[in-house]
Amino acid sequence: MRESIVIMGGGVIGLSCAFELQRRGYQVTVLEINRCGGQASGAAAGMLAPYSENVEGSDAFFRLCLDSLRKYPDWQHNVKQISGQTFEYTNSGSLYIVYHEADLLALEGRLLWQGQSGSSGSILEGDTLFRLEPNLSRNVRAALHTPEESHLYAPHYVSALEHACRLMGVTIYENLEKLSVVEWQSGILIQSTDQRMFSGDQLVVCSGAWARELSYTFGISIPVYPIRGQICAYEVDEKPVQHMVFSNQGYVVSKENSTLVCGASEDVAGFDTSVTEKGIERLRKWNKQAFPFLENRSPFYRWAGLRPSTQDGLPLIGSLSSSNNVVLAVGHYRNGILLSPATAMFVADCVEGKRISDDNQAFSPERFS
Ligand code: FAD
Ligand code: GLY
Repeated sequence: MRESIVIMGGGVIGLSCAFELQRRGYQVTVLEINRCGGQASGAAAGMLAPYSENVEGSDAFFRLCLDSLRKYPDWQHNVKQISGQTFEYTNSGSLYIVYHEADLLALEGRLLWQGQSGSSGSILEGDTLFRLEPNLSRNVRAALHTPEESHLYAPHYVSALEHACRLMGVTIYENLEKLSVVEWQSGILIQSTDQRMFSGDQLVVCSGAWARELSYTFGISIPVYPIRGQICAYEVDEKPVQHMVFSNQGYVVSKENSTLVCGASEDVAGFDTSVTEKGIERLRKWNKQAFPFLENRSPFYRWAGLRPSTQDGLPLIGSLSSSNNVVLAVGHYRNGILLSPATAMFVADCVEGKRISDDNQAFSPERFS
């Protein structure tokens, strides 16, 4: 009989793990207290940007992010093929802009280590830069161009993942409200508020910003906290921005559906997902500075999501030493969409009891305990 896996959480991480585990022959059930993709995953800008999101140097986290970017071409093709649904996946490349001469040195340092890590990036200035991104403010001094970086349309991607999972035979329960882990050491037993019981051989926890709730259950410290990201979109006629454009203030990315997505704040606001005037005004100020054509425009859509952040900025991925039946995959903070394929394969390897690479030991879910 096929081994059965219960996954708690139907965001991009839970659905990616379900997709990979079902493909590897397991019988997978996803339990979602709300709606699949209804939290951080559906709110994301969809950028697949390991170089722009990691500016310090090449560590285990950067390498996991880069590995995931490289898995994306095949992975997204499989999701599209199996789901029969399409979604935007664009290799736009990115520009990390700076306004001051003094910031050039930092860009050069990044170019050096990122070049050694496989980027074909370069620093662009003057006419070369403005030819590539004509609407960029002439106050921009230089930009680090990284052609490898891509982006996708996150809500459609998550919906395609969910659809692919269902078509492959994954059972998905939504709107379960609250779940209790009744047994996790010899087999898995989960109870919902309406007294339904869900059983399996192994459990994968993918409950995003809510993962800390399970610290007591498993007797370990799971320091995952919600960091709200407020984000907005402008309606645009043509494609006014060609690349994903980052700075230390935020980012801008054009989508195929004639929107320009601009993000995002990093607020400590508990589990509150409301959008504030102050949060959006800050984004507008930065957007106008980078792209003067936005001066008199207002975003037509504003939303927010809760990033699952951790104490040390790294996700918690791996099996518990107290029970090989439980795998955690939480705390993906700013890069959960990017990390979807790499996390799914890492988790599936844990479920199969494969050896964890030295690099991936850095994500041990018990490192805080
Ligand atoms: P979620 O999507 O939050 O899913 C967790 C799910 O678990 C939820 O559906 C929740 O209802 C459910 N749940 C909670 N508790 C339980 C329980 N006890 N039992 C069952 N289910 C439970 N990442 C990128 O890679 N690129 C980007 O460009 C990007 N942009 C972002 C922009 C914004 C504004 C935000 C907020 C985030 C962005 N991110 C981006 C980060 C990314 O969205 C997250 O890292 C990712 O969505 C986390 O996925 P997740 O599945 O862990 O969490
Ligand atoms: N990775 C973009 C964000 O989290 O806002």
